[in-house]
Amino acid sequence: MSDPIFTLAIDTSCDDTSVAVLKDDQVLANVVSSQIDIHQEWGGVVPMLAKRAHEERIDAVVEKAFLDAGTEMSAISVIAVTYGPGLAPALGVGIKKAKELCAQYQLPLIAVNHLEGHVLSGLLRDKNGAFYSEATVLQGDREDLLPVLAFIISGGHTELVLIKEWGTYEKIGQTVDDAAGEAFDKVARLLELPYPGGPQISKLAEGGNPKAYDLPRPMSTSQDLNFSYAGLKTACLYKIRDIKEEIGESAFESVKSDFAASFEQAVVDSLLIKLKKAISQYDVKTVLFGGGVIANKLLRQQAEELAKKLNINVIIPSRTFCMDNAAMIGLAGYFRFKKGEVTDQETLDRNPVLSL
Ligand code: KG4
Ligand code: ZN
Repeated sequence: MSDPIFTLAIDTSCDDTSVAVLKDDQVLANVVSSQIDIHQEWGGVVPMLAKRAHEERIDAVVEKAFLDAGTEMSAISVIAVTYGPGLAPALGVGIKKAKELCAQYQLPLIAVNHLEGHVLSGLLRDKNGAFYSEATVLQGDREDLLPVLAFIISGGHTELVLIKEWGTYEKIGQTVDDAAGEAFDKVARLLELPYPGGPQISKLAEGGNPKAYDLPRPMSTSQDLNFSYAGLKTACLYKIRDIKEEIGESAFESVKSDFAASFEQAVVDSLLIKLKKAISQYDVKTVLFGGGVIANKLLRQQAEELAKKLNINVIIPSRTFCMDNAAMIGLAGYFRFKKGEVTDQETLDRNPVLSL
C-alpha cells in the first residue's frame, strides 16, 4: 500500500472561513468559522466585510485545524484551495494563504472548483473509514457508483450534472434565474426572518400545513431539466400581500408557518419533479446530492423516498458537509492530486464565475 496523502484544504468562497486536514479521503479536522453574525444585520453577505473577516480569522482557523487533527504542517503533502465560484474578494484571501504556505513549505498546490467539492461531499469518510453520509449504497469503490447523477442545490447553484467518469462533468440542467437556496433566502426576507433564510424557513415550516397555500411549481411541465425560482419568489410576494390584506398584518403571524410549509413543499416538488425526469432520461446508478439546501429535512426525506421508489442508489451528505466546508475541497484536491494533477502557483487566480 502506498503512503497516505495528507491534504490541507482552504475554502473562503463566501461567508465561512474553513480549513480542513484530510488523510486520504478521511477527515481529520474540519474547522468552520461562520460570519453569520457579521452579515445578518445587512440581510445578506457583504463581500468586503467577508474579505476582512477571512483575513482576520484565517491564521487562527489553520491553527485550530492542526490542533483538531493532531498533526502539523510538516506532515502535509499537498494544499487544496477553492479558486471559484464565489465572491472575488473572499476567494482571494484563501488563495493568498494557500500560496504563502506552499512557498514556505515547498508544497504542491491544487486549485479546486467549489462545485466539485459539493458534488463529492457525500463521499467523505471519518477517521475510522466510515462514510459521513446517509446512503442506500456505499460499499466498494467509488467507481462502482457510476454513472452518477449529481444534484447540487446551494445558495448560488441548482444543477443536475451527469458523471460518467469521475472528474468529468456534463451539466444537463440548471436554474435559468435564481438558485433554490437563493429562493429560500429571499422568501425568508419577505417573511421577515433573519439571514440565512433556509434553516429559518424549514424550522418555521415544521408545524405548518404544506397544503394551506397554493403556490406554483415553476417549470414543472417544461420538457427540459432546467429550474426557475424568480417567479415563485414573486408569487410569494403577491400571496403574502393578499393574505395580509385579507386577514390583517398582525394575524399574518399566525399563518406564517403554514406559508413557510407551503413554500418549502413547492421548492421540494419542483426539485424532485426534475430529478425524476432526469433519472428517466439517463441511465444512472446513483444520485449524489450536495449543497446547503440538501440540509433541508423535508427534501432529504422526500428525495430518499423517491430514490427508493425508483430503485436507485442515493447518497446524501451529513448536514455538516452540506454547508460550505473545506473538507469537501480537500477531498476533490486529494482525488486530483492522486491522479497526478498539480496547479501552477504562479498563474493561479480566482475565478468568481467558474462553472463545472
Ligand atoms: O452550499 P451553501 O452552504 O453555500 C453556497 O455555496 O451557496 O448553501 C447555502 C444555502 C443558503 O441559501 C441557505 O439558505 C440554504 O443553503 N440552506 C437551506 C437549509 N440550510 C441551508 N435551505 C433550506 N433548508 C435548510 N435547512
Ligand atoms: Zn457552497
